[in-house]
Amino acid sequence: MFPAIVQAQSGYFTLSAAREVRDTGFLQHLLPRFSLKHGVRITQVDEGGDVAIGDKGVPVFTGLDKVWSATGSKAAGAELFVEWLLSDIGKRTIESFKPDGVVIFTTQFEDQTAETVLVFDGDPVQGEALSLTHCGRCHVINETNRMKGMGQTPSFALMRTFDDWDNRFATFFVLNPHPSFTQIAGITEAFAAHLPPAIVPLEITQDEIDHILSYVATIAPADLGAPLQSQ
Ligand code: HEC
Repeated sequence: MFPAIVQAQSGYFTLSAAREVRDTGFLQHLLPRFSLKHGVRITQVDEGGDVAIGDKGVPVFTGLDKVWSATGSKAAGAELFVEWLLSDIGKRTIESFKPDGVVIFTTQFEDQTAETVLVFDGDPVQGEALSLTHCGRCHVINETNRMKGMGQTPSFALMRTFDDWDNRFATFFVLNPHPSFTQIAGITEAFAAHLPPAIVPLEITQDEIDHILSYVATIAPADLGAPLQSQ
């Protein structure tokens, strides 16, 4: 009468994992906990298992200087197992493996991948020169123009402390006060003839802004605990 339930509780699949992972004894910790909970029997094989833990598939945990991924075939329980690894209970089970009190595998790898997304393909050396020429009229860029910045204008090092600094620099031309004096080839509209900029216009290209972003990425964020003059 309840064939579906009976089936769900009597799955069977094979699992293979990279030797480095096997050698830690991790599978003896992990597999029984899943089997017990879901009534699925798992047999370890050397390679080509229904579930394979190695380089391919969805990232599931990190450790031994690597991010480990898993693939799951259609075999009963295999996909469920991969989902379980990604669930809160699965993550806790992974992190509770502590031979000799040391955590070997963690599930906190999202943050590391997010950071590497910030890649700037401009040239920081050109970017520094362009920053000094175009932005250094008002902003302190670095030691070179320390004494030349304009009063209340934030230094580059100070702006580098903003979480979204890259976004602000990439769009500085729409952020006040810049629109009134900035022209970007092919992007901004020409200044209205009857409203010429009150100060020397800043004319720059999209490529040059990329160079500036690449340079700003190399600037150490200001230490906000230090006295203001040192920024
Ligand atoms: C004529 C002076 C002047 C020039 C030239 C200038 N800026 Fe600014 N910039 C300012 C001032 C003033 C502020 C502070 C605005 C505020 O606090 O509201 C500012 C703020 C900024 C901000 C933060 C904006 C925000 O709202 O978060 C960025 C980013 C920025 N500037 C980038 C640049 C870059 C890049 C250049 C050169 C390509 C440049 N600026 C050239 C005067 C200038």
